[in-house]
Amino acid sequence: MAPISRVVRIVIGRAGLQRYLTALLFTALTLGAVSPAIAQEVLDPNPVVGSPAQDPQRNSNGLAQTPPMGWNSWNKFACNVNEKVIRDTADAIASNGMKDAGYQYVVIDDCWHGQRDADGFITADKARFPNGIKALADYIHAKGLKFGIYSDAGAKTCGGRPGSQGHEYQDALQYARWGVDYLKYDWCSTGTRNAEEAYTLMSDALRASGRPILFSMCEWGNAKPWLWAAKVGNLWRTTGDITARWEGKHGYSLGITTIVDFNEPLWPYAGPGHWNDPDMLEVGNGDLTPAEYRSHFALWSLMAAPLIAGNDVATMSQQTRDILLNRDVIAVNQDAAGVQGHRVWKQGDLEVWSKPLADGGRAVILWNRGTQPASITADWGMLGYPRSLKLNARDLWAHKELGQKAGSYAATVGAHDVVMITLRS
Ligand code: GLA
Repeated sequence: MAPISRVVRIVIGRAGLQRYLTALLFTALTLGAVSPAIAQEVLDPNPVVGSPAQDPQRNSNGLAQTPPMGWNSWNKFACNVNEKVIRDTADAIASNGMKDAGYQYVVIDDCWHGQRDADGFITADKARFPNGIKALADYIHAKGLKFGIYSDAGAKTCGGRPGSQGHEYQDALQYARWGVDYLKYDWCSTGTRNAEEAYTLMSDALRASGRPILFSMCEWGNAKPWLWAAKVGNLWRTTGDITARWEGKHGYSLGITTIVDFNEPLWPYAGPGHWNDPDMLEVGNGDLTPAEYRSHFALWSLMAAPLIAGNDVATMSQQTRDILLNRDVIAVNQDAAGVQGHRVWKQGDLEVWSKPLADGGRAVILWNRGTQPASITADWGMLGYPRSLKLNARDLWAHKELGQKAGSYAATVGAHDVVMITLRS
């Protein structure tokens, strides 16, 4: 009885099992097939499903103490992934300064899958990955980088490849055997599945695999994962897919400023090990202006978002490189306090954002969403500082100390651009 009930519990969840048993017993009682005393005993959760001590440990997995940094294939390559693209990308990250700046995870998104084998284990698409996933993971590890992969909680991925539904433990085991360090887990073809149960199931499966695997939940924010997922995943998408547009909705996809406005109010839910994910970066992956790319990168950094590059890093321009490799800005993202910065002032298109840093300082963004240059002032009052305090300011895009400031800091900010500073005593 116990082992079967444990298997059932793993599949439908403890609450689901309890509801199922209650319904079953109620029917049996009604039919007179079971005595009320026996029904009561069976309904006692402990003898039936095992003591709570037998529940899987759902402590945080200890990963992603700062927002994860890396690269993912989707924004640039979509379904056109293969071994060469991934190897070239790993080569580039290891040699172009990205690795030294903190970019670590190389993640293959959708469409790497072949079919399941006779035992139900997932295989790679042999034409695209002739050497298999294990060899690719070894190659990436040999570069001092980490390797990530993609699956889906439904029967099929968004790209129509086999999903993990019904194969969660088997897939987690396969990933661990291959040397996977990061799993992005999508939400297509899930029908009426309960998101919390589905993601908890895969989270437990990853833990049971014995390999530390960072868990990136891609459920688009539908079931408000920020309310329940801190010990389930290391990051959770808060919105639909990003696209390289400045603003607005474009079908299912969203522009930069639209995503910012969804993600900003969720700041209290982020922290070390569990981050809001406003989706992967579009820096260098479209027709946005340098100012717009700077705003995108600065805001993602200040919001403690995962910094997952989405462009072709093997062929990127110097301009894109200067943004993605801005170590002053990256340091704000990777600050040990792990606070998600947020908006502290807004008037029309002009905004001031602040992120408290571990050393008591602040990272501050003056953001001009408008189409004309404008002056913006960050007053110490907006940042939670007494106005009399003298603070040392540093410009994070000019990489320049600005000297001591008292009471406020003002600057002219270009159209769709940011000024980003740190303030420290
Ligand atoms: C969904 C996700 C994207 C990407 C695609 C792959 O749309 O939100 O980030 O993974 O699926 O098909």
